[in-house]
Amino acid sequence: MRILGIETSCDETAAAVVGRDRRGKPLLCSNVVLSQIDEHSAFGGVVPEIAARAHLAALDKVIELALEEAKTNLKDIDGIGVTSGPGLIGGLMVGLMTAKALSASCGIPYLGINHLEGHALTARLTDGLDYPYLLLLVSGGHTQILCVRGLGNYERWATTIDDAAGEVFDKTAKLLGLPFPGGPNVEKAARKGDPQRFKFPMPLRGQDTLNMSFSGLKTAIRQQAEKLAPLSEQDIADLCASLEKTMGDVLADRCAKAMARFLEEHGSSQTNFLVVAGGVASNTHIRERMSELCEEMQWRLTAPPAILCTDNAAMIGWAALERFEQGEASPLDLSPRARWPLDADAVSVIGSGRKGARV
Ligand code: KG4
Ligand code: ZN
Repeated sequence: MRILGIETSCDETAAAVVGRDRRGKPLLCSNVVLSQIDEHSAFGGVVPEIAARAHLAALDKVIELALEEAKTNLKDIDGIGVTSGPGLIGGLMVGLMTAKALSASCGIPYLGINHLEGHALTARLTDGLDYPYLLLLVSGGHTQILCVRGLGNYERWATTIDDAAGEVFDKTAKLLGLPFPGGPNVEKAARKGDPQRFKFPMPLRGQDTLNMSFSGLKTAIRQQAEKLAPLSEQDIADLCASLEKTMGDVLADRCAKAMARFLEEHGSSQTNFLVVAGGVASNTHIRERMSELCEEMQWRLTAPPAILCTDNAAMIGWAALERFEQGEASPLDLSPRARWPLDADAVSVIGSGRKGARV
């Protein structure tokens, strides 16, 4: 089976081809990601209207490149997977309409895929992981811990009650005058910084809940920066390193608790896996912190390569492949959804990270 994946939910225009080899092993045949950094950097964040227009201008070419790189063409594609939510509605419409047009004109079935499901299942594409596993999903719009029991069976155990982890990186970068996109530039600055210099708050730590809160961290960084102003390069580096350390400690603290809950449910007789996914999971410090935690708890960490942690279409193609294998397909009147929780039964938390409108 060969699946074409399409992703346009935020500021990356992406297409990829995935499949399985004869023995059923996952295959990544191509992965093309065109970032819109240049279009948005003057505004310090993603501008939804500009994003939608840029997707429209680039998507056909990006799909062509993905097919070319995979040495295939539409005739040999068995299905199309496209992000149909959550995300910026203009971009979602561009991707979804393109997938529908290809589906109708070439007679290929297509499937609208939840972007978060793409992140959640990436480890099955990269590492062939079996269900169930524990997932830390840390992106620009979401910060959640989920128990991934099977395809379409995701139980949200924890969420941020305010800002997403990626939002803290992005807003801190803006505050410190670092270029867009925030996350990678905070990471770069942090390399020369002292992570012990500032002790930032870790809200909800030690409490019964698995939930997280990051808005206080954002405020504490702002207050510290205002106190120190004008900031030296070393101040900026130290603030970034201290942010990374605090974020890593909070995430490790909550994951440790979630791992204990997972063991209560599943026992410790077999190897248990913690998966990290989403853009923030490409951060080296966060990956190292999670790796330490897994060593302590005698779990295995699965962290997909950074390029498959940030937004990409391979993960969308893969989620579609798993669903096609179950005989699913979407109708041509499917609508995109700006909001679409992975666990529809979880209590909604007002104010928890919103994807989109990041300016
Ligand atoms: O998964 P993603 O590409 O898009 C969403 O689904 O939101 O995640 C984007 C987020 C942004 O907030 C970005 O700043 C953050 O991931 N990010 C990072 C790094 N690379 C991307 N955060 C920290 N360190 C990084 N290296
Ligand atoms: Zn994402």
